[in-house]
Amino acid sequence: MYQTKIAGLGKYVPENVVTNDDLSKLMDTNDEWITERTGIKERRHIKKGDGNTTASMGVKAAKIAIERAGISKDDIDLIVFATLSPDYYFPGCGVQVQEMLEIATCPALDVRNQCSGFIYAVSVADQFIKTGMYKNVLVIGSENHSGGLDFTTRGRSVSVIFGDGAGAAVLTRSDHNGQGILSTHLHSEGKHALELSLKGPSTNHWVPKIIAENPQGDDIPYYPYMNGQFVFKNAIQRFSEVINEGLQENGLSVSDIDMLIPHQANLRISQFVQQKFKLADDKVYNNIQKYGNTTAASIPIALTEAWEQGKVKEGDTVVLAAFGSGFTWGSAIIKW
Ligand SMILES: CC(C)(COP(=O)(O)OP(=O)(O)OC[C@H]1O[C@@H](n2cnc3c(N)ncnc32)[C@H](O)[C@@H]1OP(=O)(O)O)[C@@H](O)C(=O)NCCC(=O)NCCS
Repeated sequence: MYQTKIAGLGKYVPENVVTNDDLSKLMDTNDEWITERTGIKERRHIKKGDGNTTASMGVKAAKIAIERAGISKDDIDLIVFATLSPDYYFPGCGVQVQEMLEIATCPALDVRNQCSGFIYAVSVADQFIKTGMYKNVLVIGSENHSGGLDFTTRGRSVSVIFGDGAGAAVLTRSDHNGQGILSTHLHSEGKHALELSLKGPSTNHWVPKIIAENPQGDDIPYYPYMNGQFVFKNAIQRFSEVINEGLQENGLSVSDIDMLIPHQANLRISQFVQQKFKLADDKVYNNIQKYGNTTAASIPIALTEAWEQGKVKEGDTVVLAAFGSGFTWGSAIIKW
């Protein structure tokens, strides 16, 4: 069995900054509420005409990751793309990336695991590399949330939380035994599928049916629905469980963690987990204040920033953990 390491990281966020005050001009909300409940001060939104899409932002992040990995785009053996906001209903963004990167042909697959998407994608890539089937796998998490949110007061409890952006990682066969991904841990609990969901358009909620069933337009399945407090309670429980699971699997304890990068769901969730594990401030990386919750992109954006700032360095034990719609959750334990 081979081992997988992260050889290169990159991120891209749209230039357009949207502050809490900007949102308060569109809906009945305010900076105090958003800051207190979520920690978010601003997020990035794609601006009409700036050319950004979920796939193209992923490509921008990927190009940086590929360069930093010291490989060529033609060395990529597989693309794994995680998103809940693809450019098209089908095909997935993975094939768009293959085309935009001008890779002759290569396998490309999309992962639909929402906020856990990046960890699921890393785990998939890791299995292919471990078995020797592929050497270099490009993993991307990218989201265009702003294109599909309800920016009226009706949608405020969801819309203020989410932002746009992309992160990417090149996963490569490791030459050094013991360096790289030590383990990944994935879970789902579909009985809560609709607690954080967007029902349609889908084959079950196709456009004519949506219109026929909602003549007043009051129950709108094409905007996300979130049972916020229920999600919050499940998130803090599952984050803790899956971090512990990863540590135990590798015979590690909390004191071995050099850096925890939690999915940036909500600053209060990250702080709860930090306090539960009694981790010092410099052992947890948060950037939700600047970007909001970017779902599948949040971990690779945060990991890229932490690495750029020298907060993730060779020899460190890095823990990635996520929870989100599905419900799905997961963790990855990495020796950097
Ligand atoms: C969404 C979340 C921030 C809401 O916080 P909360 O404390 O649960 O707030 P509630 O939904 O109970 O709403 C409290 C009040 O604020 C109001 N409110 C909701 N959104 C608001 C906004 N953006 N601005 C101002 N007021 C708002 C509600 O209408 C409600 O008013 P009421 O008391 O008059 O009925 C919180 O539940 C949360 O963070 N959940 C987890 C979300 C998450 O992490 N999702 C991603 C998972 S990957």
